[in-house]
Amino acid sequence: MEENKRIPAHVSIIMDGNGRWAEERGKERVYGHAAGVESVRACTEAAVETGVRYLSLFAFSEENWNRPEHEVHTLMELMVKAMKDELPVMMKNGVRFVVLGNRSRLSPSLNEMIDGCMEETSANDRLVLIIFLSYSGKWDILEAAKKYAREIVEHPERRDSLLAMGTDGFGRYLATDGIPDPDLIIRTSGECRISNYLLWQAAYSEFLFTDVLWPDFRKEEFRQALQEYAKRDRRYGKVK
Ligand code: IPE
Ligand code: IPE
Ligand code: MG
Repeated sequence: MEENKRIPAHVSIIMDGNGRWAEERGKERVYGHAAGVESVRACTEAAVETGVRYLSLFAFSEENWNRPEHEVHTLMELMVKAMKDELPVMMKNGVRFVVLGNRSRLSPSLNEMIDGCMEETSANDRLVLIIFLSYSGKWDILEAAKKYAREIVEHPERRDSLLAMGTDGFGRYLATDGIPDPDLIIRTSGECRISNYLLWQAAYSEFLFTDVLWPDFRKEEFRQALQEYAKRDRRYGKVK
């Protein structure tokens, strides 16, 4: 099969267009977010089926806290519900669940739920599903820089080796430590921007922008994206 030719290890999706999907149907925006949860399930299954090892999803940005309180509240409620509903499915499919982002802004009950899910799925090894929640790329890089600076101050004996560190070394201070950089970043809904997502990690990612709104992005669309990826020629600055 064409899609098996070159399977990306890490697929990342900026899930956009829920609000417009709902508005097209004369419904409230939050209706689109609920429909979007179905796409999360479909893409997770498709990732397991196609042999993708890491699937990461941008679920809520630091900037999204500026949305109306009702929408933010409903989104957080949906996260809790989705985690409850999907836990047995993740266990069945061998999915390890990870949440990355500024968790200090999340409610204690949501944090507790996340910890429980991460703990319970920690030994699963078919797919790592990473949810970026209250995340922004600039926040991630700033936090990494603070950790790095703190280490230099607190460990003068390691100062020289820390200062000699290269970009791979610095990458280990990011929230995504241990996770390979995304091979493919998909953004739905026709917007062609990064919206403060994985700024450092996207250095050599392939990008795919599609007009499909997130609630309509299902298995077929996921498989098509992998087919498109298989045609790309990744050169990393070299001459072929
Ligand atoms: C993506 O859909 C979900 C989040 C950003 C939380 P949007 O809510 O951004 O939908 P549009 O872009 O307004 O259609
Ligand atoms: C990006 O979508 C964030 C997520 C998908 C979580 P937005 O809808 O918030 O992005 P902008 O505001 O259109 O750039
Ligand atoms: Mg949007």
